[in-house]
Amino acid sequence: MLTESEPEVFKWIGMGSDIKQKRTNKKFHESFSNGCLVIRKLDYVTISNEDAGDLSDTTEECFIARVLDLYDDGSGSDSRHRAVVEWYLRPKDLKQNKRLSYDFASFNEKNEVFRYCGKKMWDVDIDAESIFSTCRLITLPEREKVPDRFYDNGEPLFYTRFSYNGVKLTAEMSIQVENASNLSLNEARRCLFDTNSPVKEEIEKKSPFRSFYSSGKKRKSITVINNDRDLKKRKLFSDDEEPKKTKGKMKKKMKKKMEVKCDENDDRFEEARRSLHVSMLPTHLPCRESEYKEIYSFVKGKLESGSNGCVYISGFPGSGKTATVLEVMKNLTEERNNEDLCDFKFIALNGMKLTDPQQIYVQMVKELTDQKMSSRYAIDYLTKNLGKWRKEQIVLLVDELDLLYTKRQEVLYNLFDWPSRPKARLIVVAVANTMNLPERIMTNRVVSRVGMSRITFQPYTFKQLEEIINSRVSELGTFVPDAIKLVARKVGAVSGDARRALDICRRATEIADKCQSRKGSVGVKDVDKALQEMFSSPKFMAIENASLNEQMLLRAIAAQFSHSGVEECTWEDVYSSLVTLCRLEGISPPNESQACAACFQLASCRLIIAQDGRKDMEQKIRLNVSTDDIAFALN
Ligand SMILES: Nc1ncnc2c1ncn2[C@@H]1O[C@H](COP(=O)(O)OP(=O)(O)O)[C@@H](O)[C@H]1O
Ligand SMILES: [Mg+2]
Repeated sequence: MLTESEPEVFKWIGMGSDIKQKRTNKKFHESFSNGCLVIRKLDYVTISNEDAGDLSDTTEECFIARVLDLYDDGSGSDSRHRAVVEWYLRPKDLKQNKRLSYDFASFNEKNEVFRYCGKKMWDVDIDAESIFSTCRLITLPEREKVPDRFYDNGEPLFYTRFSYNGVKLTAEMSIQVENASNLSLNEARRCLFDTNSPVKEEIEKKSPFRSFYSSGKKRKSITVINNDRDLKKRKLFSDDEEPKKTKGKMKKKMKKKMEVKCDENDDRFEEARRSLHVSMLPTHLPCRESEYKEIYSFVKGKLESGSNGCVYISGFPGSGKTATVLEVMKNLTEERNNEDLCDFKFIALNGMKLTDPQQIYVQMVKELTDQKMSSRYAIDYLTKNLGKWRKEQIVLLVDELDLLYTKRQEVLYNLFDWPSRPKARLIVVAVANTMNLPERIMTNRVVSRVGMSRITFQPYTFKQLEEIINSRVSELGTFVPDAIKLVARKVGAVSGDARRALDICRRATEIADKCQSRKGSVGVKDVDKALQEMFSSPKFMAIENASLNEQMLLRAIAAQFSHSGVEECTWEDVYSSLVTLCRLEGISPPNESQACAACFQLASCRLIIAQDGRKDMEQKIRLNVSTDDIAFALN
């Protein structure tokens, strides 16, 4: 651990450019490192909040912003490393605006933020050293409930539904989507923790990313948004006190920035970024027509005949399962609204949003009767009232079903068993990443009695990925066709995950947007850069630079996880999977002590988490990166 007296670790990455401000000594940069923390332009970041004392770096109290520019002011002073940011406010900041009539109870105090786009010139020029970590920000539609998830792959996770201009809130996105599915299954569990839960704190303490992100050196905090150099108190929207404006110079600078922002290219890029966002549900899903038809006719058939049913949909992450089911349900709801279809009640639950599998009962009762009860009573209530719940049939979508897998398997068993009872009036649509979940919990006889239909989603091929990306951006003409091909080929060869492909395209759009020399299109170079960025992230480097034994072990754990759908596995399973994998690849398998050494090494750089103090066959091991990351890094 570094101490305060040790040399400063802040470093600009690259030479920087002074094109923008010829007459000053300012040097603009694309990124900097501060210890192990690497910040790039356009990253979402958390910033130490000195006001919060000991809690200054916690996700509950830190400031949240997006980095728009990075520069060295050339003064040589202590505060010469500067960042220009766009602020995201917390619900409590809005409360100070007494004229804002909004139901504050509907905000998630802990992880919901609001993009500030008002006229008041809060100081957007801050000390770059007060940046504490990167974070992830997910834009949700207005009506979506903000989940209680705080971490995504170790990074703090925030959600935004509205922007705030100092007067009113405006929805950032208007299309209804299922956002929780945007994280891979592996990332999911880590995000399930409540802020108050001791488990979360444990994870936070243990998170490898804390060591990736925190510099070790005592970071600077800021106390003000208004003007951090004067160290004034942060007061945003008090009614009686007009907030202090920043100096004229700053205003001009902001104005200039706004003008640049308004130019036509930026609009198109902005539009492209939005339509590439994984939370944007397109009106039509190309390449999933047959799966759509199957699900549509299944659910519609059951609704029309008034019978029960259960359909099990499985496939790799990012293969469009959630998107397809939601499209089906959207269209069926429309038909019902037009009175072309009988009435039904649609309940959508997501394993990832539940803090514990039993909560599914609580949520169901709440949806059906608007009552709150504990899970113990809820299960009794549901079983007793099977079929008497409501007059209309119920379509129950359970997404990320894998996460409801428990030792006793009671939750999954009930979900599959209920529709087999003649009076239940229930259609269950179960969506999971694992193919054989039903077999693992029931004997084949029970499965066949349930009469479960199955639909499997294959990973997308590169051609399909190309078509998917095209469908999202072709109208805007922002992408050069070869750039799309490159993304599609790269992702298609590894995982066929549409989510990953869209993410890379989005990042490439951001890069192109910032690069003023290119005229209005995202090219192969931008995609290349986005891919390079992805591969140069600490976790990718750690995977790539691991020894062969360590890499094989990672692949073995990933294979074990994909096979079982359960995140945690035992050393025994991992080792046997490692031996099989090595044989398949024609490599002589490491003996157990060599494998143990590799395991220790992976755990020490936090690519996996290994149960402490147990060095036997039952030792529990789990991945701390997504399987997709491993596939990408090792291909
Ligand atoms: N056929 C498709 N056309 C357009 N976008 C798609 C298609 N399939 C998936 N996507 C997008 O990819 C992302 C991941 O899809 P999703 O349905 O959440 O995957 P899964 O549930 O299988 O993990 C979503 O943003 C979705 O809109
Ligand atoms: Mg999904």
